[in-house]
Amino acid sequence: MTQKIWTAVDDYLSDMLVPPDRALAAALEASADAGLPEIAVSPNQGKLLMLLARSINARSVLEIGTLGGYSTIWLARALPKGGHVVTLEAVPTHAEVARANFKRARLGAMIDVRLGKALDLLPKLATEKRKPFDFVFIDADKENIPDYFAWALKLTRPGSLIVVDNVIRGGRVIDAQTRDQNIRGVRRFNEMLKKEKRVSATTIQTVGVKGYDGFTLAVVMK
Ligand code: SAH
Ligand code: DHB
Ligand code: MG
Repeated sequence: MTQKIWTAVDDYLSDMLVPPDRALAAALEASADAGLPEIAVSPNQGKLLMLLARSINARSVLEIGTLGGYSTIWLARALPKGGHVVTLEAVPTHAEVARANFKRARLGAMIDVRLGKALDLLPKLATEKRKPFDFVFIDADKENIPDYFAWALKLTRPGSLIVVDNVIRGGRVIDAQTRDQNIRGVRRFNEMLKKEKRVSATTIQTVGVKGYDGFTLAVVMK
């Protein structure tokens, strides 16, 4: 009575609160057909991202880790006319599938998919003349979360929201002895957050179709 009920309740909630959507369904289908791993955020989590972005009136979003662009579509939908998303992806097939998904969803013009390792792309992004991002979603490789978070701080402004996915990992986050680089990345990130005066942060544990995991929410304060 753990995963089974989490899934059943998650399905019930998405039935209630997440209406069927052709673009999102097509994106998941095309991603599965192309053999992408099925690790996108869940429907309820996607809607949470959309609502968070909307609640701060975000106009610009930076996403690290595109996959097939399922979360990207949710985030793009939160934005007003003239809004835009920059999303970073290291794997060419993932970026290609995502671009096709955005085109199909008629969101191609507002989403800039950049192919490369995020740690190579972020310094370039920082040299571009652009306003700070209002919202950053960190969802790529977990061992580099501390570096991604440092870049997110450089690329945002007070009032921006930084969301980090997969920070609980079935509870393994509390294993101080682990040699798993992903968990170690999350733990280093938490050490960083503990000292970081520029953000106010909390982490919410989640259960659902994706198991037991969680998100960190960090608001840039100064
Ligand atoms: N945000 C997506 C899921 C992302 S899965 C969603 O919820 O729909 C993580 C993605 O990060 C994968 O596509 C993986 O290829 C990509 N990734 C992993 N390491 C990366 C890196 N160093 N730079 C950029 N992308 C990376
Ligand atoms: C997994 C889930 C994720 O949300 C992610 O970003 C990476 C991996 C997983 O379940 O393995
Ligand atoms: Mg994730």
